[in-house]
Amino acid sequence: MNYRHGFHAGNFADVLKHAMLARVLQHLTAKPTPYRVIDTHAGVGRYDLGSDEALRTHEWKDGIARLDRSPLPAAAEALLEPYRTTLSAIRAEHGANAYPGSPWFCRHAMRPFDRLIAAELHPPTYRKLAEVLARDARCKALAIDGWTALRANVPPKERRGLVLVDPPFEDKDEFATLAQQFIAAHRKWPTGIYMLWYPIKDRRAAATMLDDVLEAGIGRLLRLEIDVDRPEAAGGLGATGLLIANPPWKLAEEAEILLPALTERLAQGQRPRYLCEPIRPDG
Ligand SMILES: C[S@@+](CC[C@H](N)C(=O)[O-])C[C@H]1O[C@@H](n2cnc3c(N)ncnc32)[C@H](O)[C@@H]1O
Repeated sequence: MNYRHGFHAGNFADVLKHAMLARVLQHLTAKPTPYRVIDTHAGVGRYDLGSDEALRTHEWKDGIARLDRSPLPAAAEALLEPYRTTLSAIRAEHGANAYPGSPWFCRHAMRPFDRLIAAELHPPTYRKLAEVLARDARCKALAIDGWTALRANVPPKERRGLVLVDPPFEDKDEFATLAQQFIAAHRKWPTGIYMLWYPIKDRRAAATMLDDVLEAGIGRLLRLEIDVDRPEAAGGLGATGLLIANPPWKLAEEAEILLPALTERLAQGQRPRYLCEPIRPDG
C-alpha cells in the first residue's frame, strides 16, 4: 500500500471523477427518500494543495487550477455547479488550498437522514479520514479492506444509493479484481448506482474489464473517458475513465455536455479526446 492520493489530489482525473460524483449525488438528493453511499477506497477526505506531496507533483495545476481560471461555457458550467459549490464550501471552511476528497463531496451533499460508509485500509490515511468525518453522525469511517466493506454493506437498508469504487491500481490484477468485486456486489444489489474509477494506461485492461462486466449480464452502463493528450515525455497519467452502472436518468445527456468542455479545458496536447458511451441491455 504505497499509493498516496495527496500526490494526485485535484488533478484532471479527480476533476472528472468528482464532477460526475457531485452530479450523481445531486440526482440522489433530488428524491425525498434517504440514500446511502459506500465509498470503498476513501482516502483522507480532505487534501491540502499546499502540502509537500501536492507541491512535489503539481498535478492540481493541470486540474482544478484550470477550472479556477474562468467558467466553462454556460451549459457545462451549470452542470458543474454542485462540484463548484462543494469546493467553495471547503475553501470557506479550511482555506484556499483545501480540496475535497470523495467523502467530503458526499458529506456536503447529504441531508440529515442520508448516510456514508467510508472504508480506508492504510492506517495513517484512515486516522486522517476519521478526523475529517468526526462529529458527523451521518458518516462512518472504517479501517477495513474496501472489498470487504463492499460485500458487507450491499444492499444497504435504504435500498437507494451509490457505491464509489476508487482503488489505487497498484496491483497488476486490480482491473480483474474490480470487475469481480463489482459483479458480485451487483448480484446482491442490482439496482444500486455504482461508479468505478479506472486509469487508462493500457487500453486493453479497461476493455477486458468492460467485457467481463457485460459477460456477467450487467447492461445499464455509462462509460465515460477523457484523454488529455499528455505528452509521453511528461510521464504520468494522461487518460482516465468511469464506468457507471444504473446511471441516474439524464446523466448521459449531462456528460455529453460536460465532458467536451472539461476535456478542452484540461487538454495538455493538441488532440484531447473524450468518450461518452451509454451501454444498454438491448445493445
Ligand atoms: C485513489 S485513492 C482514493 C481517493 C478518494 N476516493 C477520493 O476521490 O478522494 C485510493 C485509496 O485507497 C486506499 N486503499 C488501498 N488499498 C485499500 C483497500 N484494500 N481497502 C481500502 N482502501 C484501500 C489507499 O490508501 C488510498 O487512500
